[in-house]
Amino acid sequence: MSISPVIVALDYPRLNDAVALARQLDPAVVRLKVGKEIFTREGPAVVEALQALGFELFLDLKFHDIPNTVAAALRSASALGVWMVNVHASGGRRMMEAAANELAKASSRPLLTAVTVLTSMSDADLAEIGVAGSAADQVSRLAALAKDCGVDGVVCSAQEAPMITAICGSEFLKVTPGIRPAGSDAGDQSRIVTPPEALQLGVSHIVIGRPITRADSPTQAVAEIIQSLQSP
Ligand code: C5P
Repeated sequence: MSISPVIVALDYPRLNDAVALARQLDPAVVRLKVGKEIFTREGPAVVEALQALGFELFLDLKFHDIPNTVAAALRSASALGVWMVNVHASGGRRMMEAAANELAKASSRPLLTAVTVLTSMSDADLAEIGVAGSAADQVSRLAALAKDCGVDGVVCSAQEAPMITAICGSEFLKVTPGIRPAGSDAGDQSRIVTPPEALQLGVSHIVIGRPITRADSPTQAVAEIIQSLQSP
């Protein structure tokens, strides 16, 4: 069976908890996402421990700094052998080009995605920081810029995926959180879509955390999600 589009968000503070959950999952079926909380506490050891179990990792550190610093951070991330890394598109052209150029030097290049507009930002929040126009306009502008800079895709909401495909093409990756299997608790996510709906909207990878990590049986939760993706 080929690997699925599912990326499980391991949002734990401690390495041991992340490893205990990962041991219940199959690296041939899902990838894992390591974020700022656990990486800040545990460092590269968490990456190494999960890779030792055979998983491909999305290192979700959303770098945003001057081009030279972001390129150097990505050199370090690339040396860890992760599958995907990301930056903030609002760092601009020179930062994203430096990021893409740095990763191109790697023998096994991680995929590079960019966050366009944080989904926590409303149009009013954007106006307050001087961004005129709607969040959708800004997402479109930054997605097109990211593509032009050699970035492989964006982290976006599933609702934005059709617009981004229209601008950047279907090959441009769309990595999407805010996914909830039918019948599961929405938690703090709003504007949620189900896994099959996300694929229908043209999303390439779906990030799912708590519906899997807090399930009585994470194995079964994954199996049900994969099944839902396969049924017509
Ligand atoms: O548990 P849940 O499925 O909500 O986890 C989703 C993951 O995606 C979390 O790691 C969260 O930080 C991340 N994320 C998100 N919404 C965004 C960007 C990232 O939920 N807009």
